[in-house]
Amino acid sequence: MLDTALLKEFQQPFLLSTDMIKHIAVQFRKAMYDGLCGKTSPLKMLPSFLAAPTGQEKGAYMALDFGGTNIRALLVELYGNGHYAVIRQRHTPLKTSSYDYTADSVSAEELFDFIASEIGQIAPAVTLSLGHTFSFPSYQTDINNAKLITWTKELKTTGVENANITQLLSEALIRRGLAHIRPAAVINDTAGTLLTAAYSNPAADIGSICGTGHNTAYLEPWYHSTPMIINMESGNFDKLPLTIFDAKLDTNSEKPGQQLLEKSVSGRYLGELLRLIINAMIKNGLLPAIEAKRLNIPDAVTTKDLSLLMADSVIDLTTVLTLYERTSLQQIAALLQKRSAQLTAATFYGILCHIDPKLERRHHIAIDGSLYEKMPGYAQTIQATLTDLCGKSMTSLSTGLIKNGSGIGAAIAAAMAKK
Ligand code: GLC
Repeated sequence: MLDTALLKEFQQPFLLSTDMIKHIAVQFRKAMYDGLCGKTSPLKMLPSFLAAPTGQEKGAYMALDFGGTNIRALLVELYGNGHYAVIRQRHTPLKTSSYDYTADSVSAEELFDFIASEIGQIAPAVTLSLGHTFSFPSYQTDINNAKLITWTKELKTTGVENANITQLLSEALIRRGLAHIRPAAVINDTAGTLLTAAYSNPAADIGSICGTGHNTAYLEPWYHSTPMIINMESGNFDKLPLTIFDAKLDTNSEKPGQQLLEKSVSGRYLGELLRLIINAMIKNGLLPAIEAKRLNIPDAVTTKDLSLLMADSVIDLTTVLTLYERTSLQQIAALLQKRSAQLTAATFYGILCHIDPKLERRHHIAIDGSLYEKMPGYAQTIQATLTDLCGKSMTSLSTGLIKNGSGIGAAIAAAMAKK
């Protein structure tokens, strides 16, 4: 028989009240301010050397989207005012059962040779500028030079941290006989998402990824007195009410103490959080010792499993667990998902209060990523939380999915670099 009091003890630390969410937003806004002023802050506030596009960006460009799970090479034609066509594209995983370009046994040259050969599969034989979306915290000195500060999302490839990403890519392209493909811009995927949305919608001023990783960029109206898209690296925000499970996940991770917001909200980690909770529930007699062997393996539970569980589509479970046990598991999975969307919404509210304290202007938040696109209820929870926080001003605020913004955004950035 299910011990409901004990189950509640598991659930309680994941519940966020409106006051707690508001408090997180206030802390987030302060961290933005500190980061912009050069004070110590969990937010890196990295300038992209790009403002909003005019909508007049046109022409053919190569784009490379490197996010840590796949490599996507694209040939894109931009027509202006939000219109574009993907002429060719190629999608390849960075890790399969026969190779793993994310491992520390792989060198930067090996990784970038692999990337260049993927570009070579679709690149035409004419000279083209290339926009590169590199979705990791990178320090930029201009639109086309970025140094990786630190790997996130558990990547470990050797020799990339502290290296100039554009130089690594350019050298690999030359080694592969692709000197006619010329890197012209490097951006973060959040900036790419924002650029793609702003290409057709001038109200778009926040771009976010809610997928394997989590991060947000926004258009700072006054960065050294000019508008500038800032990659906040908000996944590293750490003023959060975390649970013992978050702490355990962090201790076992590649970089303990870093990316605490990302570790509590993103797809790379939600399944692992669920695995840690299930194991504790088993220990406390709330669940039978199902699949004990598998559940001892880190990362054995994925965010996809979490979605299946919530939809009651894990066939095995319906035979091994009672309805009560399944419901209790589903409640935990739903709480993890809800907390993720609420924390994300809190950061959005923090940004809105920073750029427009009285919420007087129109704003559009463009979001990409598997959680936002595919997890049932996720987008709705973000919207509902923002409505709760913004009250009446919500009418001038919209949120929406922008698909493949990181790849298209790279092409837009390459076009902007030309000017
Ligand atoms: C990680 C990266 C960040 C990226 C995000 C989404 O948080 O550090 O740069 O934007 O993942 O891919």
